[in-house]
Amino acid sequence: MQHILAIDQGTTSSRAIAFDGQMQPVASAQREFTQHFPDSGWVEHDPEDIWTTTLQVCRKVAQQVGADTISAIGITNQRETTVIWDRATGAPIHNAIVWQDRRTADLCAHLRANGHEKLITARTGLLCDPYFSATKIKWLLDHVPGARARAEAGELAFGTIDSFLIWRLTGGKVHATDATNAARTMLYDIHDGRWDGDICALLDIPMQLLPDVRDCADDFGTTDPTLLGAAIQIAGAAGDQQAATVGQACFTPSMMKSTYGTGCFALLNTGNTPVRSRNRLLTTIAYQLDGQPTYALEGSIFIAGAAVQWLRDGLGVLSDAREADAMAAKADPSQEVILVPAFTGLGAPYWNTECRGAVFGLTRNSGPNEFTRAALQAVGFQTQDLLRAMAADWPERPKSATLRVDGGMTASNYTMQFLADITGAPVDRPPVLETTALGAAWLAGMQVGLYPDPDTFAANWRCATSFTPQMPENLRSSSYTAWQAAVQAAMQASKR
Ligand code: G3P
Repeated sequence: MQHILAIDQGTTSSRAIAFDGQMQPVASAQREFTQHFPDSGWVEHDPEDIWTTTLQVCRKVAQQVGADTISAIGITNQRETTVIWDRATGAPIHNAIVWQDRRTADLCAHLRANGHEKLITARTGLLCDPYFSATKIKWLLDHVPGARARAEAGELAFGTIDSFLIWRLTGGKVHATDATNAARTMLYDIHDGRWDGDICALLDIPMQLLPDVRDCADDFGTTDPTLLGAAIQIAGAAGDQQAATVGQACFTPSMMKSTYGTGCFALLNTGNTPVRSRNRLLTTIAYQLDGQPTYALEGSIFIAGAAVQWLRDGLGVLSDAREADAMAAKADPSQEVILVPAFTGLGAPYWNTECRGAVFGLTRNSGPNEFTRAALQAVGFQTQDLLRAMAADWPERPKSATLRVDGGMTASNYTMQFLADITGAPVDRPPVLETTALGAAWLAGMQVGLYPDPDTFAANWRCATSFTPQMPENLRSSSYTAWQAAVQAAMQASKR
């Protein structure tokens, strides 16, 4: 029996999952690692933690299934997170700066004030925001002594996490990334498929730092045999949200998936057309096969499941996230408590870095149940914000088209039913919630001939549970209007 090993290197943990020839998960391992918050709004990871936890989980799974049964590896990863390392030693020059990190907010504001966002958006499809890698690279080159001179001399390499892992797994032989990860750096021209010299010059980033960009199903080299007990080809790579899009078989224009973890990321397939958003969504690459990019509109919400974590760890109103559904169901229907979970600002479509969280509609009777319901409903309201922006940018998609969902938080039936109710569209949940890892495995498995072509893969996609909208239209409309008013009030209250 042959297997494909998927590596899912996420924001809070590293995971490895082995899939068998029928694309069923048969073995997995997961390790969390430390988050570093050295300053307000700063988030870092130690790249050695990322590497050692990744290696540990891969070794564990390889031992379970037998390293010599692994035909190929597919990598998927937290996107945008930025590492720079020494090409000679492989040693990082600094901690990785994580996608959530806001330290370059002033630099981005300066670039916007000087009129550079137009060019950046035209070439990269992104907004000028600290979320993306480009200004994090500049920060590292500006702040680590000697870094820029070493970068100019070709001594250093930059990578998102996929690229760093490919470098380490191949024993420093391959410095490459895939088009979806490149598309999140704010340095990659998504139309011409190359690094953009003008933006690199604007940010004073030497292009010698940048990795080679390949398809999502491609040859990314072979693992050093001393690492996993065999030399295994790395045959697939994609950013985690793009891998989930692939794992959900969203291969046709107008198909859309939404992944609910710490945050929420919705991607709408727009085919060969890179659609320029007029509603502050991102234009990005969904996947690239045989040199042909397929584009997507993306909406990124920073806080989804993290709001439930806050209720548990911050407020202590529940002891286990699995209690949330039962508590929300018990909430008083006569109270309209609304939580705007803008703990780190608001992402799409607002992109308001200053906004902070707010709760509206409290009464003397509001308690843990009402707070919990508000946190779960915030997921639906925020998704509806994205769907409305997407409908305005891409009217081809019928408003009642099905939304495919995945990620840990989709285990919450209450949240999924409310999502269907407030969006007025069916929500389909597949049997395997590990669609991100499945997407990475499929890319690698297809590349080495173990897994089927996209059409067959899509034809075999199955829904396990479908949630259909049940809320009366007048209630749907008034609830969403109340949410919109709450967001406006939160943004107003956060203004200095
Ligand atoms: O853009 C950030 C995203 O890729 C992070 O995903 O699942 O690691 O929180 P996750």
